[in-house]
Amino acid sequence: MWDDLRPVGRHDATGGYRRFAWSSVDHTLREWFAGEAAARGLDLTVDRNGNQWAWWGDPDRPHGGGRAVVTGSHLDSVPDGGAFDGPLGVVSAFAAVDRLRADGHEPARPLAVVGFTDEEGARFGVPCVGSRLLTGVLDPDRARDLRDADATTLADAMRSAGHDPAHLGRDDDTLARIGSYVELHVEQGRALVDVPAPVGVGHGIWPHGRWRLDLAGEANHAGTTRLADRDDPTLRLASAVLAARAVAEQHGAVATIGKVEVTPNGTNAVPSQVRAWLDARAVDEASVRAVVAAVGTAAAADPAEESWSPEVVFDEPLRDQVAALLGGAPVLPTAAGHDAGVLAAAGVPTVMLFVRNPTGVSHSPAEHAERDDCLAGVDALATVLAELTGDKQR
Ligand code: HGY
Ligand code: MN
Ligand code: MN
Repeated sequence: MWDDLRPVGRHDATGGYRRFAWSSVDHTLREWFAGEAAARGLDLTVDRNGNQWAWWGDPDRPHGGGRAVVTGSHLDSVPDGGAFDGPLGVVSAFAAVDRLRADGHEPARPLAVVGFTDEEGARFGVPCVGSRLLTGVLDPDRARDLRDADATTLADAMRSAGHDPAHLGRDDDTLARIGSYVELHVEQGRALVDVPAPVGVGHGIWPHGRWRLDLAGEANHAGTTRLADRDDPTLRLASAVLAARAVAEQHGAVATIGKVEVTPNGTNAVPSQVRAWLDARAVDEASVRAVVAAVGTAAAADPAEESWSPEVVFDEPLRDQVAALLGGAPVLPTAAGHDAGVLAAAGVPTVMLFVRNPTGVSHSPAEHAERDDCLAGVDALATVLAELTGDKQR
């Protein structure tokens, strides 16, 4: 499976992945998901929001055992992202199904592998679109009108990819099928580097969000316009970037302005406009808000909130049960957002497994996890799924 995915959406010049929602690369990934489901005789459904579900057992007639256990992740990436963020969770889920079958396990509950669509929000700007629509925290009309860099709307991109956007929105039927959700993900930090355990368990997710700064200036000639006559928005951008770092340090937060659009983006033209996006995260909401406020003041602009992810603490009994099941695996906090966080916020009992990342680097072509650690992740996931689904024969 890993070899099949390796070339899909890989940008040769950087070795990074450009797997953006509802693109032709995304179509190849969705075909791959459908193929893996079919190869295992799993029933594939695509919900109204485009999320793919591969079912082992009938989700609408759960045997006495109760509602389904769902596992999976996402296949899309950030621009020039790594190979593991997302796909490791989906590949490990299919591999865990294979492991359970090899062990003769017959789940007493339905089990599904899920591929959530558009988790990174790389193309349309909002993260976890598939799970936010599913749980009703993203307005369908707002979603349909999200635009990419070419001003293509999400609705049009979906239509071009053969998915009708008319019915986006909260999907109670699909939500009712989910008894619990387990997401395996490559660790995005060094928390597992110096411990003997290759797999950790998620404690929760820091509150975090994304804001847009619109800085208007006055287009003019770079050579003939006196400094005193300029209205150059890049000066406000510079203040915003420096303020983001300074105030994040003050609050023990993290802040990033990694995406900037300069118009007209000419070497010899004072820009007419700068748009910049702030990603801010902290252990508590007040610290995040303090960072955003300070950046807005520095930029003399009101940051427009494009997405907000509240603090998430994963289901404690489930988390402790899984950590114990894995022989006392370390329990790790994270500042990385996940569909698991969106489901947890919607009340779905949710737990995350993190697979050791030897460098901690993520959202980069350099992202890596060792094969043995990935296999340990599959073992751990299979153990957890066996426990949570129960065995019909026993
Ligand atoms: O941004 C995040 O934390 C995640 O990768 N979507
Ligand atoms: Mn990511
Ligand atoms: Mn991810």
